[in-house]
Amino acid sequence: MSDFLSRTLDRVKPSPTIMISAKAAELKAAGRDVIALSAGEPDFDTPDNIKAAAKAAIDAGKTKYTAPDGITELKRAVCSKFKRDNGLDYTPDQVSISSGGKQVLYNALMATLNPGDEVVIPAPYWVSYPDMVLLAGGTPVVADTSIQTGFKLTADQLEAAITPKTKWLIFNSPSNPSGAGYSAVELKELTDVLLRHPHVWVMTDDMYEHLAYGDFKFCTPAEVEPKLYERTLTVNGVSKAYAMTGWRIGYAAGPKHLIGAMRKIQSQSTSNPSSVSQWAAVEALNGAQDYIETSRPVFQDRRDLVVDMLNKAEGITCPTPDGAFYVYPSIADCIGKTTRKGVEITSDEVFATELLEEEGVAVVFGAAFGLSPNFRVSYATSSEELTDACTRIQNFCARLK
Ligand SMILES: Cc1ncc(COP(=O)(O)O)c(C=O)c1O
Repeated sequence: MSDFLSRTLDRVKPSPTIMISAKAAELKAAGRDVIALSAGEPDFDTPDNIKAAAKAAIDAGKTKYTAPDGITELKRAVCSKFKRDNGLDYTPDQVSISSGGKQVLYNALMATLNPGDEVVIPAPYWVSYPDMVLLAGGTPVVADTSIQTGFKLTADQLEAAITPKTKWLIFNSPSNPSGAGYSAVELKELTDVLLRHPHVWVMTDDMYEHLAYGDFKFCTPAEVEPKLYERTLTVNGVSKAYAMTGWRIGYAAGPKHLIGAMRKIQSQSTSNPSSVSQWAAVEALNGAQDYIETSRPVFQDRRDLVVDMLNKAEGITCPTPDGAFYVYPSIADCIGKTTRKGVEITSDEVFATELLEEEGVAVVFGAAFGLSPNFRVSYATSSEELTDACTRIQNFCARLK
């Protein structure tokens, strides 16, 4: 039977975050008291104005195929968004709309990678980047960051990762899984390196743009270094910004020839993203933006709660991130210790497995994101649940010997 399946499958693994969330759901269904801190989606409902726009689109019969890479109205809304939030000028023919940011990134890699092409991916990374690169026939080149630099890539590390075969740098700020956000100064140090390597393009995943806390100010490569405009694909979406994960709308803007190549891939695979979702996204981008402002302080309070409680857990060090809704604590001081049941914590995967087993808290182990020994907590859930979960983590750690 294995002969029947494509060898492409040998190159990729299933998403560990989806697997862990499924495992937590399974335990819950079996009656276990489980708190899942593994999902990467806001716990808020989609705002009413957006839902109303979708209902109106259905009633108006906007339920047919659209242009394969999106309706002009949404492309125009994307152009306005880039101008308003990022000071970037794009025209609708420089914009591509897909079923989520995930498909945008996938299309771009499929449209550009040839065997041997390298893609620099700073670790810890969003789980899908390396696998998407592999699916598209390229070679991921992982550049490790460290907790000392706040999980941010330095100019020297970027310089060292670039070879004549490098095609892309995938850049993600604020980051999933670390929450790290690059200031304009830090980002400029990276774009200066890219200016010295004209063959390298940057695919910037700005999905968590609006989830930025305290003094941190979001910025994006083409804004910080306009000379990179011609070799930047700026990717964003409505999933995280407007609590619209299930609607599946992501978008990107970049050079016309790249957008055209991505359109070609999409037109022969999925064609247009849901027409109704596209109209909802028009309202998300053009309508009132108050959801962003009301949800941000809630997330920030939760971040502070989680960071504070995790730092009180024995053996855990948790930096305070600038954005997104994740923290990425280190468990370096837990390695080598033994659980109540006598299991030695040899890795972050063992830590996460035993934590789920003993305390019913589901987190994602750091190896899934390419940097250990850490784990990711998603704090997109209520303060009550977070307090309960962090107390359980403290109890788990206190019992380690
Ligand atoms: C960094 C990052 N990029 C892209 C995505 C994809 O988002 P979507 O496909 O829902 O737009 C996610 C979702 O978890 C993410 O965390």
